[in-house]
Amino acid sequence: MLKVLSSVVAVVAIGTGLVITYLLHKVPEKPHFDLEKWWGIGSKPREEDVAIRNFHINFNDTIIQDLKQRIKNRRPLTKPLEGIQSEYGTNTVYLETILEYWTDKYDFKGRATLLNRFPHYKTRIQGLDIHFIKMQPQTKDLKVLPLLMLHGWPSSSKEFDKVITMLTTPKEGYDFVFEVVAADLPGFGFSEGTNKPGLNPVQIGIIMRNLMRRLGYEKFYIQAGDWGSQCATHMATIFPNEVLGFHTNMPLSSRTISTVKLLVGSLFPTLAVDPKYADRIYPLKKFFSYIMRESGYFHIQATKPDTIGVALTDSPSGLASYVIEKMAISSNRDQLNTPHGGIENLNLDDVLDTITIIWVNNCIVTSSRIYAEGTTKDPEVWTVHNIPSLVPTAAINFKHEVLYQPDWILRDKFQNLVRSTALDIGGHFAGLQTPQMLADDVFESGVAFLKFHGVYSNES
Ligand SMILES: *[C@@H]1O[C@H](CO)[C@@H](O)[C@H](O)[C@H]1NC(C)=O
Repeated sequence: MLKVLSSVVAVVAIGTGLVITYLLHKVPEKPHFDLEKWWGIGSKPREEDVAIRNFHINFNDTIIQDLKQRIKNRRPLTKPLEGIQSEYGTNTVYLETILEYWTDKYDFKGRATLLNRFPHYKTRIQGLDIHFIKMQPQTKDLKVLPLLMLHGWPSSSKEFDKVITMLTTPKEGYDFVFEVVAADLPGFGFSEGTNKPGLNPVQIGIIMRNLMRRLGYEKFYIQAGDWGSQCATHMATIFPNEVLGFHTNMPLSSRTISTVKLLVGSLFPTLAVDPKYADRIYPLKKFFSYIMRESGYFHIQATKPDTIGVALTDSPSGLASYVIEKMAISSNRDQLNTPHGGIENLNLDDVLDTITIIWVNNCIVTSSRIYAEGTTKDPEVWTVHNIPSLVPTAAINFKHEVLYQPDWILRDKFQNLVRSTALDIGGHFAGLQTPQMLADDVFESGVAFLKFHGVYSNES
């Protein structure tokens, strides 16, 4: 009797396991998307403006003087606690040195001129004015691969200014080079934000695909990090015949099966991850306490971005404090015991370019809303997350990237993972922190993409 019972239990257990596995692997149907959805003010006009306009970055005197006044007129900042560096957040004594640099030494006009060394444009897509850099390579005989580059929060296309030059310059040993379109996501940088709810990373992906079509690219490659990588992941999922290859420096499978694997893997960390990289996620207790420590901003922006947005819109010191803390920690998560908290891993002018661009365009609220649109507001995002992508994908994992998943989990989403690299240095803002390594990996991934498509010619 006991034997029969235990057989029954075993059968039920196996059956349940199979059903759960089936459900986790189940691929939802691709939702239907309106590819012309209108995000502009009011309703869609009969005639759309499809012009591509030249654009120059200009930090004008009015906005600079106002900014400097506000920084100078700040109230006294509360000093850090005794013996504390950055463990409670931005070290205000250190921040004051940055604010002084921003007002007295940062060269607003010179930095704008530097950014203007690239050709900048704007064009209206689905009702929003989208800003982008389009940089063509100097070449006569090399194959040219069109590459869309997408940044995340709190960045803009500025994040790519070092990498754009590297990617559009022919490189020894490669018979191809890139032409780069580096776009500001809507609501970021110099791109217009929407006044309508629902502009999530799937919808942004559609806008970016339509931008590429406006520019005449029916098929193209993508390089992206952070939220840009989320948008690009969705583009690869929705437009598998248009995205020729996807290079990401924040590879992430958000399929349910991947979350389960990550949890189960914590029981066998040495089997689940190459032991060299196991400490990037395991033990989960340590990983989660790091996530808890650093994700307060995420929760705020995913739920009530407009509330904090008032303070950040009104105070450049507050904006600098907020942005610098996040850029610091994701450049090196182990430096809270220093006054700079990690920000010195980045060039200060690059950091201040980023903050100045947010200030001048008043886009901290419109950009922060992506956390709400991408996580809590719309089930279509999670449906698309659960559909695997067949686009050839290359992943690079820098040491201090916020998240890390081993390849066997990434493959749940990226079923043609053609290349995967993990480095012992670097962080989240790879274009700013380790531009040469990022560019080198994009070139090497280009080879993998061309081989995948059977059109690699430099086989010597
Ligand atoms: C200066 O720049 C700001 C931000 O781009 C803009 O709102 C303002 O109209 C400009 N002012 C002048 C005088 O050009």
